[in-house]
Amino acid sequence: MKSILTSRLVDSQSSLSRLLKMAASRNGRLLSTGSNKGDGTLGDKQPSTEKILVFGGNGFVGSHICREALERGLTVHSLSRSGRPSYQDSWTNSIVWHQGDLLSPDSFKSAMTGVTSVISCVGGFGSNPHMYRINGTANINAVIAAAEQGVKRFVYISAADFGLMYYLLRGYFEGKRATETELTKKLPHGGLVSFSLALILDFCLYCLQLGVILRAGFIHGTRRVGQMKLPLSVIGAPLEMILKRAKLLSKIPLIGPLFIPPVHVTSVAKVAVTAATDPTFPPGIIDVYGILQHGH
Ligand SMILES: NC(=O)c1ccc[n+]([C@@H]2O[C@H](COP(=O)([O-])OP(=O)(O)OC[C@H]3O[C@@H](n4cnc5c(N)ncnc54)[C@H](OP(=O)(O)O)[C@@H]3O)[C@@H](O)[C@H]2O)c1
Repeated sequence: MKSILTSRLVDSQSSLSRLLKMAASRNGRLLSTGSNKGDGTLGDKQPSTEKILVFGGNGFVGSHICREALERGLTVHSLSRSGRPSYQDSWTNSIVWHQGDLLSPDSFKSAMTGVTSVISCVGGFGSNPHMYRINGTANINAVIAAAEQGVKRFVYISAADFGLMYYLLRGYFEGKRATETELTKKLPHGGLVSFSLALILDFCLYCLQLGVILRAGFIHGTRRVGQMKLPLSVIGAPLEMILKRAKLLSKIPLIGPLFIPPVHVTSVAKVAVTAATDPTFPPGIIDVYGILQHGH
């Protein structure tokens, strides 16, 4: 009995790997191991059949994601309420800018035509009901539209738990978690593996849609505010250096989350684009330490 189970497991795993290879070649590119070292994978600047849509591509994180995706030769579209950013950096001419509001599903459906992957960087602060709408409702609308459209990957820039901050920013965190739940429901992820490898094989054959949730803490880098550039790394970089070596501190009850290391915006961008385009990238929740690991 034990040997039958073992052989079934091995069969399932090799079938899964074959399946992923099939899926990758169907997308017209080779599998990536994540190292991206000139083997025809994500690091190459060759024309790609991938069309990536970044919700909130004119924001702080979104603009870095757009640039990262362009550097990898992808076709990049962005959608937000204001569309094209007011500044005139040369990379902005290579993006297709759409105007739309995720709170009005009809305003963004046409931008989703032919999209293979979506990354959502839409979020914000304000009153609790407003934070829920922008971090929750707006993104849930995006997840529903992407699932209907049959996009194969949806990456959501979420937020790490911040202990006591949860109570101060309840609408923000409840919105984030509601979107994560919808994403897991509409574009299920690797959690199914523990249920049955055979089932996930069947599922993958039927539908290759997968959701990835990046739970970042404080994201640092250079943030534009109007014509000003805020060098957030002045504080973020040294904190990241210290705190990434003190993972145990983040486990302290209640105050532990305050020790979650900040992460540079380019690391988030790298991981988001890889997660959106590399079928071997693990779906599900990626925490700050995962972002730091995959982002280098
Ligand atoms: N920055 C951080 O330290 C940090 C940390 C953890 C998690 N995050 C998360 O990462 C994501 C990006 O953060 P960020 O700092 O880059 O924020 P940001 O600069 O404020 O960007 C937010 C983007 O969302 C767009 N947007 C807002 N409401 C929209 C709507 N209804 N429909 C369509 N687009 C809309 C905005 O453009 P328009 O105004 O033109 O619509 C903007 O492009 C957010 O979800 C945030 O919660 C950020």
